[in-house]
Amino acid sequence: MNTPSERYTYKARWYHWAMAILIVLAYALILSRTQFERGSPSRIFVVQTHFWVGILVLIMAFFRVYERRRNTPPAVTPPIEGILRTAATLTHYLLYAFLFVQPLLGLFTVLIEKGSLPIPLTQVLIPSPFPVSEALAESLEDLHKLLGTIFYYVIGLHVVAAIWHHFVRKDNTVRRMV
Ligand code: HEM
Ligand code: HEM
Repeated sequence: MNTPSERYTYKARWYHWAMAILIVLAYALILSRTQFERGSPSRIFVVQTHFWVGILVLIMAFFRVYERRRNTPPAVTPPIEGILRTAATLTHYLLYAFLFVQPLLGLFTVLIEKGSLPIPLTQVLIPSPFPVSEALAESLEDLHKLLGTIFYYVIGLHVVAAIWHHFVRKDNTVRRMV
């Protein structure tokens, strides 16, 4: 068993796994929309729930980074050095950036395309502070979709790296996060 100081803080672990689940849910919801007829209540529900799961990720990202800055993670043993360490740091920065940039792109897309943000299962629309622009919304949506595709690979690499650390290198990387 690890002692507490050999693991990420309880809060850091909680944010990591809760947000990983929310991100998988955001992907699953938006990909499932094609199962429902265009304009049907079910389709509207899954798309709007995608928006709000993503917004929850964005809100949690601020708290998570605050927690990360307050507590340095425990060291990996045996230590990781050189190119592997650089690759890990770079991937982590990319993942953190994704937690902010991806939901913001989605949010701006909806606000600029529709002029409001809908609340699922209600008729409530939160008005947009931005003017509507179809062309800008389309570019933002394209970027949002592109980033969504690129991050299949970045997240995939992150998961494969975790498996490699645990089963091949047999270090404590994963144990620190569980
Ligand atoms: C963790 C956060 C998010 C992830 C991982 C994510 C991922 C994705 C992906 C992969 C797609 C493209 C799906 C496809 O091409 O079939 C997509 C589409 C979309 N997302 Fe997100 N998204 C997130 C947050 C948000 C947020 C916060 C909003 C708005 C408030 C949003 C609005 C949209 C819109 C409008 C589309 C286009 C839907 C359509 O074509 O019908 N997303 N998202
Ligand atoms: C099943 C999926 C996942 C597994 C097994 C996993 C595993 C891990 C492990 C073991 C660490 C510690 C790495 C280290 O300290 O060197 C970590 C850190 C991290 N993970 Fe994941 N992860 C998963 C999903 C995700 C997802 C979906 C995201 C976000 C898109 C994410 C974002 C991060 C970030 C940003 C860190 C860096 C934490 C730090 O500041 O040190 N992870 N992950």
